[in-house]
Amino acid sequence: MTVKNICCIGAGYVGGPTCSVIANQCHDIRVTVVDINPERIAQWNSDLLPIYEPGLDEIVFSRRNKNLFFSTDVETAIKEADLIFISVNTPTKTCGEGKGRAADMRYVEESARTIATTATSSKIVVEKSTVPVKAAESISKVLVANQKDGVSFEVLSNPEFLAEGTAVENLVNADRVLIGHNETPTGRAAFRELRDIYMRWIPKERIIGMKTWSSELSKLASNAFLAQRISSINSLTALCEVTGADVSEVAYAIGHDRRIGPNFLEASVGFGGSCFQKDILNLVYMCERLSLREVAAYWQQVVDMNEYQKERFTKKIIETMFHSVSDKSLAIYGFSFKKNTGDTRESPSICVCKRLLDEGANLNIYDPKVMDKQLISDLNRVTCNQEKVKRLVKICRDPYSAAKNSHAIVICTEWDEFKKLKYEDIFKSMKKPAYIFDGRKILDHDYLSRIGYEVYTIDTIRSNRSKNKTRESTEVSGKYLAKRNDEWYPAEVIQKRPVQDPNTFEYYV
Ligand code: NAI
Repeated sequence: MTVKNICCIGAGYVGGPTCSVIANQCHDIRVTVVDINPERIAQWNSDLLPIYEPGLDEIVFSRRNKNLFFSTDVETAIKEADLIFISVNTPTKTCGEGKGRAADMRYVEESARTIATTATSSKIVVEKSTVPVKAAESISKVLVANQKDGVSFEVLSNPEFLAEGTAVENLVNADRVLIGHNETPTGRAAFRELRDIYMRWIPKERIIGMKTWSSELSKLASNAFLAQRISSINSLTALCEVTGADVSEVAYAIGHDRRIGPNFLEASVGFGGSCFQKDILNLVYMCERLSLREVAAYWQQVVDMNEYQKERFTKKIIETMFHSVSDKSLAIYGFSFKKNTGDTRESPSICVCKRLLDEGANLNIYDPKVMDKQLISDLNRVTCNQEKVKRLVKICRDPYSAAKNSHAIVICTEWDEFKKLKYEDIFKSMKKPAYIFDGRKILDHDYLSRIGYEVYTIDTIRSNRSKNKTRESTEVSGKYLAKRNDEWYPAEVIQKRPVQDPNTFEYYV
């Protein structure tokens, strides 16, 4: 068999870009991406695609309705296909056995059932979704138990390693493509079919065949390793904060060790995205089920550290703003879990916003790509209080209006445009003291301090606070005030200088 017709079940962040790239690389293969969500399919067939990925629009617009199709007709696409990708979501279970940790395999199972009951000819079924080890075995069982006479299936594991925001680049220049297969003649034949498709644009040596279970575990392990690097560097931010070390310098030094390398060492408010937490929890759950308690505890710590980091950052905001953000306005810059995507799943910004809303802050949120509907639904879900979200949250169309009259700017996502804003103008429009909490360490903090901002980031406690000695200051009813930019601010006294002038002291504002 030579694959001429591909069906992909699931038109999401993985199915959409993956199949668009396949269609673009293989004009002679007909690729149909199907989904049970008609709204999503309508968006794929429109001018405004449901997901934002650099370079994706061009590919979709050039191949759509030529050899790339988006449809809700799942059954016809399955019948016509030689090879079927299962690319549906595998979220963390929210109820039942393994709740909060195990992967919810119901969509994968449903897809397998639909394939088995619909297919009238033999197919290669490729598990692209991220799944627990041995999921291919369960898929095979469902397929075999429901297959029609004369029809057979060969299941491959082909986990996806794309990263949102760089999906097209990752798919076109993949570091490696894993194909797990059965050690049988039919398993090896199916492996060759899929390998031949990828070989049209990926060098052969980067296409790695292996046992199915190894392939499944490799995906979970890759995400666990990547997230572990982020949690490791984030753990050091807390240490930097109390010792005065600079985490960027530390990361730079560590990354120059060729054994370690520089990637994934950027400290931040925490990692997000639909995969890291979900896949690690899945790994932890599997280890616990297999009585590997120490291994489970080791990986659980990666997720715990991430929670700690998000909480630590938000606590710092509240503490710094005189222990209260109630009725204050904060501009939130960025709501997606990282730059160049509109995806908000597990975004640290959601946690930060939730905590600030719990404290009664007014939030002016700006993100270049996140849809309003998504943002509001995320906040409604985490706060369980639609009235509060309606009252306290304003979605802004640009960063300038978000910051106007606000007390602070909180950088939650590392969008490049945040580095290029006119911070002098923004400063003038803000309440004073004007704070910036840089949760991604992307801004020029010295420059911002010179403008007059109080700048905080994840590894500094007060190094960016301006220490003043001689400017006008006074004590009113036991509280200290200091004058800066012609305005009085509450001040925290470090040392009084009564000898020279009883009203002069060293202070932080
Ligand atoms: P997604 O939620 O964006 O898309 C999944 C799609 O599958 C949804 O549109 C849903 O309606 C559809 N679907 C569910 N059940 C269906 C059924 N029975 N028939 C037809 N369509 C159905 O999910 P995403 O992000 O694309 O992830 C898919 C899988 O890929 C997950 O297992 C994920 O862990 C994995 N993955 C995700 C990456 C990412 O960056 N988002 C990267 C690598 C792997």
